[in-house]
Amino acid sequence: MHPLNKDAALSADGASCRICGSHVRPILDLGSLPPANAFVREPNEDPGRFRLLIESCDSCANIQLHDCMSIVDLYDRYAYETPDSRMLTTHYQELGTWLTALGALTPDTFVLEVGSNVGAFLLHLKSSVRRVLGIDPARNIVAIAQAKGLETVCDFFDERSADAIRRAYGVPELIIARHCMAHNPDPHRMIAGAARLLSDAGTLVIENAYALKTLESNEFDQIYHEHMFYFTVRAMRTLLEQHDLRLTHVRMAKVHGGSVVFIARRRAAHAPIETSVPEFEAREQETLPMLLGRFAENVAQTREQLRELVARLRAEGKRVCAYGASAKGNTLLNYVGLTHREIEYCIDTTPGKQGRYLPLSGIPILSEERGFGHPPDFLLLTAWNYRDEIIARIRERVGSSIRFILPIPRVHIV
Ligand code: TMP
Repeated sequence: MHPLNKDAALSADGASCRICGSHVRPILDLGSLPPANAFVREPNEDPGRFRLLIESCDSCANIQLHDCMSIVDLYDRYAYETPDSRMLTTHYQELGTWLTALGALTPDTFVLEVGSNVGAFLLHLKSSVRRVLGIDPARNIVAIAQAKGLETVCDFFDERSADAIRRAYGVPELIIARHCMAHNPDPHRMIAGAARLLSDAGTLVIENAYALKTLESNEFDQIYHEHMFYFTVRAMRTLLEQHDLRLTHVRMAKVHGGSVVFIARRRAAHAPIETSVPEFEAREQETLPMLLGRFAENVAQTREQLRELVARLRAEGKRVCAYGASAKGNTLLNYVGLTHREIEYCIDTTPGKQGRYLPLSGIPILSEERGFGHPPDFLLLTAWNYRDEIIARIRERVGSSIRFILPIPRVHIV
């Protein structure tokens, strides 16, 4: 399989599961939206629109985006930098503790992180392991990691780059891919790279938003062009087994609206399979059909409720802004149909996003300093996955006059 180019990506033909090859059926169509990280320089600039249709496979329980944009276009210049977040730091600590308890992380471990972004996780690990190395395809993002003193290769991870890493750096005992396995139309390429490179007794860790949580909590804004898969445990096991890897552990993590951490080892290592794996799969088998069946209706309801709420607040003369120029915020705003006419501006702490505009909705992105100069009445929390820490910080900084609109799991005000 090859990454599709933009034009080919719009063809609806040949719907088959990109994990097991079986037939897939459509679940939800959010229409054609701009690439969710395409922050533009002018409010009317058109970054193009591409369809967001998700479909599911009854055979391996995979959920995938039907149309995949070219990964070269998506990651050529990349806007997302992992933010400084208390929640993420706590997660790195908990993940490290768990991997240490499993014997996968020791002072002698060489850790390779795939999709290492600006290196937040590797920086956390660096002083306690033998070596850390990142690999990420976005040149502008790799430059930031390198400036922090983190060795980072600028490339896509696959068998070819795995061979280059082996020659230049040796063999890692731990390969970790956090929130990037879904960012590629063909996850077989990444897994094949890991299977080729990992040491014999090594550990592969994959972290991703968990499909069941996405469906249960109506997190439809997690659907955007970079998220080409919504992984279930069954689908991940199916994927790994095709590369002689065995899924041994599964665990939930709170980050990004409910994530799942998968641990795999080489089949030849004969590592025991923890009961978590069949337990997760049993729950999926029980609930997935029902969750998939009602997803589209829940999403349509949220659209109506959010539209009505914002229209009512505006009619009452309230000022409404957004917090978090996240990719998912763009799906939310553009699918719901909220623009700069309803949402005055969006606050975000990422310097590279400030001064730009959200695609299609044309909402300007401001720093906290500027955004809180004349605080709005309501903030739509488009980075709801950091809800507690963001609300606490704003209350401390601006006081309790601002109220927050939470779009997920149902539209409500806090
Ligand atoms: P993410 O949910 O994909 O990590 O994106 C969250 C966005 O929200 C990202 O652009 C960074 C921004 N953000 C803030 O502006 N302030 C914050 O305190 C946090 C945690 C994130």
